[in-house]
Amino acid sequence: MKLADNKATLSFSNGSPSIELPVYQGTVGPDVVDIRKLYGQTGMFTYDPGFLSTASCQSAITYIDGDKGELQYRGYPIEQLATNCDFLETCHLLLYGNLPDAAAKAQFSKRVTQHTMVNEQMQFFMRGFRRDAHPMAILTGLVGALSAFYHDSTDINNPEHRDVAAIRLIAKMPTLVAMAYRYSLGLPYMYPRNSLSYAGNFMHMMFASPCEDYVVNPVIERALDRIFVLHADHEQNASTSTVRLCGSSGTNPFAAIAAGVACLWGPAHGGANEACLNMLDEIQRTGGVAKVGQFMEQVKDKNSTVKLMGFGHRVYKNYDPRAKLMQETCKEVLAALGLENDPLFKLAMALEKIALEDDYFVQRKLYPNVDFYSGIVQRAIGVPVNMFTGVFALARTVGWIAQLNEMIGDPEYKIGRPRQLFTGAARRDVLPIAKR
Ligand code: SDX
Repeated sequence: MKLADNKATLSFSNGSPSIELPVYQGTVGPDVVDIRKLYGQTGMFTYDPGFLSTASCQSAITYIDGDKGELQYRGYPIEQLATNCDFLETCHLLLYGNLPDAAAKAQFSKRVTQHTMVNEQMQFFMRGFRRDAHPMAILTGLVGALSAFYHDSTDINNPEHRDVAAIRLIAKMPTLVAMAYRYSLGLPYMYPRNSLSYAGNFMHMMFASPCEDYVVNPVIERALDRIFVLHADHEQNASTSTVRLCGSSGTNPFAAIAAGVACLWGPAHGGANEACLNMLDEIQRTGGVAKVGQFMEQVKDKNSTVKLMGFGHRVYKNYDPRAKLMQETCKEVLAALGLENDPLFKLAMALEKIALEDDYFVQRKLYPNVDFYSGIVQRAIGVPVNMFTGVFALARTVGWIAQLNEMIGDPEYKIGRPRQLFTGAARRDVLPIAKR
């Protein structure tokens, strides 16, 4: 970052001395007012719960222009990456800052392929879970448990350890997600197949049977790979900020990523794709498109907690570019599977049309986000609703680890330790119980 030819002056009406704060600018996007010395100079904190106006770090990985609805990974527009690159190329880009040439891609893919198996002991963790445990509960446990096995890549301050841990996490997440799915059905785990692509291998581990050969459907393989690309990273969202804060204590990368998995599970974040599909199912079950008007009234009713899941975003005040690409992928997959008349897809399109023309949504700049269509395409592929967020976690792992490694690689990084505005009881003395 570099100093802008601008300064911020903070003055106080109570006569306290005003202070000057430097302003920094990045490559693109909003400048920042550097408040690091504010407390030392004024004895005051800033106040920004939810971090609506706070840059927590500087980063060179992902840029979002929420007003224009633009998303770039290392400067490349998501539309170009989603159509010209695959997920492993995108992983290389996010981790190392550039798209690989053919040789580098082959080498990177080989490294990932060689780490797709998990320690055989991992399956014994599974046995402790109920068969109907939510897959995200299982994943939160399994990802954290990886640090029990890979002691040779847990020193987060060692660049080699960080790189090996990144490869291991990218490689093993599909295996763990598939294990959680197979366990829920009482099916045997399918070992990874090194001859398959990253997405093809995931499909094989999820849907193959040990009793017969499995043929990867190339349309679904490409669609899944694109879903992974679209979910790979997204600036300082809640789960990425969780990973950064967790990793800032120097804990091992597996533990920090497990914290990200736990945060992503929430319905306001990565859990929205599951919540959105359940919402569409409920509307479809109780009247379908004819029911949409009544449902929208509930959403707009201030006294109801009903939200249009898959809509709205803290940063995007325009159409989420990933939602557009996801809608296209939806159409491709449904057509390839002969499901053009999928009622939930039609319902989602009807909901979107009504919302985009409704003042409530227009005034609040609420548009479809990445989660609005992702559930429909995953369901069509055969991924059950409760696995949607696990697929999101699988794809976001590379973004989490890239952001974590960027932070740890920054010599200026410190442990994250926000302060507060205390509104509790002033100091008081304990009375003996007889006098309370
Ligand atoms: C992801 O941050 C990221 O980058 C996340 C993500 C990523 O890739 O990491 O993009 C992935 O999490 C996408 C978002 C998925 N979540 C959902 O689809 C859940 C539904 N959306 C909302 O919960 C909400 O829009 C949030 C949580 C996404 C954003 O919330 P904000 O920024 O805190 O906005 P807000 O709640 O203050 O909403 C502003 C207004 C409010 O109305 P008023 O109080 O002004 O009258 O808009 C309303 C909200 O009630 N509103 C909605 C709504 N979202 C916001 N009303 C109905 N339906 C919605 N979905």
